[in-house]
Amino acid sequence: MLHLFPLLWGLGFITHPVAVDGKALFTDKKCNKCHTIESQGIAVLPKANADEEEDEGSEPKDLSHVGSDHDVAQIKQWLQRTLEKDGKKHKKKFVGSDEELDAIAQWLVSLK
Ligand code: HEC
Repeated sequence: MLHLFPLLWGLGFITHPVAVDGKALFTDKKCNKCHTIESQGIAVLPKANADEEEDEGSEPKDLSHVGSDHDVAQIKQWLQRTLEKDGKKHKKKFVGSDEELDAIAQWLVSLK
């Protein structure tokens, strides 16, 4: 009986191969409050309150081809706000585990 434990444990991994899915995370983390990914059919979320002016301003930034401009390391740093672009940091600091950050960055880089 004891021998079965590692086996069952191993099977758990096999039956749940994708613990974190970048695309699902993108919407779970509400990145689509400010971004569209047209190539993936991700539209921007409606504003919580239409009367209220949101600070993110203008057009949502589409990330359909973000992988052609950036690599995983850059995206991770950008999302953690340790990287600046033209003297600016990302609007929103990533909230989540390293595993989630990794998954979301890997997925974004795959969009070319
Ligand atoms: C509050 C609004 C807001 C939220 C929420 C937001 N972003 Fe952004 N993001 C922006 C803005 C604005 C820019 C453009 C900054 C610039 O180019 O100067 C940007 C830029 C980016 C870029 C760089 C695009 C490029 O072409 O250089 C990536 C990647 C990105 N965001 C990913 C994400 C991810 C992933 C999330 C969710 C974890 C997220 N963003 C949530 C506002 C937001």
